[in-house]
Amino acid sequence: MRRVITYGTFDLFHKGHYNILKRAKELGDYLIVGVTSESYDIERGKLNVRDSLLTRIENVRKTGFADEIIIEEYQGQKLSDILKYGVDLLVLGSDWTGKFDYLKDYCDVVYLERTKNISSTQLRTEGKTYRIGIITDTLWDGGMIWESRYVSGLHTLCVFSENKETAKKFCEKYELDASVDSMEEFLDSIEIVYVHYAGEERERFVRHALSAGKYVISDAPISTDPELLKELMNLARQKGVILFERIPLVYLRAFNQLAWQVHGGLIGKVMSVRCTISREFLPGATDFKDVLIYPLCAVLKLLGTEWKEIRQFTALNQEGEEQLADIHIRYDSVLAHVEASGGLDMPNGLVIIGSEGRITVPDDWWNTGYFEARIHGTTPLKRFCFNFEGNGLRYLLQEMMIMISDQRTDNARLFCGESFALAQMLSAAWEDRMTAEKRSDTSPGI
Ligand code: CTP
Repeated sequence: MRRVITYGTFDLFHKGHYNILKRAKELGDYLIVGVTSESYDIERGKLNVRDSLLTRIENVRKTGFADEIIIEEYQGQKLSDILKYGVDLLVLGSDWTGKFDYLKDYCDVVYLERTKNISSTQLRTEGKTYRIGIITDTLWDGGMIWESRYVSGLHTLCVFSENKETAKKFCEKYELDASVDSMEEFLDSIEIVYVHYAGEERERFVRHALSAGKYVISDAPISTDPELLKELMNLARQKGVILFERIPLVYLRAFNQLAWQVHGGLIGKVMSVRCTISREFLPGATDFKDVLIYPLCAVLKLLGTEWKEIRQFTALNQEGEEQLADIHIRYDSVLAHVEASGGLDMPNGLVIIGSEGRITVPDDWWNTGYFEARIHGTTPLKRFCFNFEGNGLRYLLQEMMIMISDQRTDNARLFCGESFALAQMLSAAWEDRMTAEKRSDTSPGI
């Protein structure tokens, strides 16, 4: 009996899928079809799959060609499957030509010509597309145009700036369809607004866009006034839309897995969280608070919203700008320590120390696909590795599209209560810095 195997995502099942399964079956007696799992697709950066795994399996089953359906869960599984199922022939579409020749030592490999003029990607673009408009004061798009290409159903359409020259140049630079002169015209032409403005202006634009019933992504922090943020979140709820702060960290698989491991007790009782972040690695940060929001968010996600005390010490450079901030946050029985630099070259990293071990995220931990755990009394290191692509924004966009399609307005990655607590934390740290300055001003001889 000749055993044949083939693989695919089989999203939005189409004629091309049907044809390849039919031809694969004709090449043998028994056909095994591997359907990619959701997490494997995310791992390999395929963030645009629409159908669930069960739907995709069901569509393959309905063709009647598959004698057995398996799930493809990781890179390198093909070789294990060939050995496990005693496969004689691996069949793939011509888009993979040559890529699996290394498996010819184990079975025959053929690449069948793809059916012309059809693909899941093409079908996805035929569904509803949400248009993004960018409100900005610079010529830098924050990666939105590039990152949105990786999430299906999104198209960055136009730009608005109070500085018309900026809007025009922005449009030319990114080859956008339009720069729009009036805010009303801009809001009428899109469903999603990305507010990419310097700190103080964000809240005004966010409010305007939410009032018009638009989904909003804004650079973070939107405001350091927690009450204002709460007002905006309530406005979003009233309008039935979602307000996202651009903190990609909370959408990363690696960070979510890390938080889950910490809360699940991998390193015992958490005693301390320490992290360091440098502004030079955050190209979009227009303000020092844009830097602080990341470590504070990490602390909040790891230790919760019930912090007791916060102190910030700041060193300024000769121009009076923040060069270094040292923030200490006290919880009931845990301490967090954040070091943020405005221009110094510091070694970045995040370390969580527990009673039974520690977790380390090296280098730029806010954009990571990796962390490692050292557990007392066990073999050296436990390593956790996940895919991470681009600047992380695509993971936020993907979550947003899922929420829109599920008609959910509560962001499970950063609950409203957490956003509020984060703004409280930031404003408390900032106020403490001001009082500290005042204290030193009025202390004679210091
Ligand atoms: N396939 C094909 N002809 C097409 C589309 C796909 O023969 N027009 C084959 C692929 O070569 C692959 C299998 O069907 O061997 C499963 O492909 P999959 O990646 O799931 O489908 P695509 O339509 O290529 O999906 P996407 O556009 O998301 O890449």
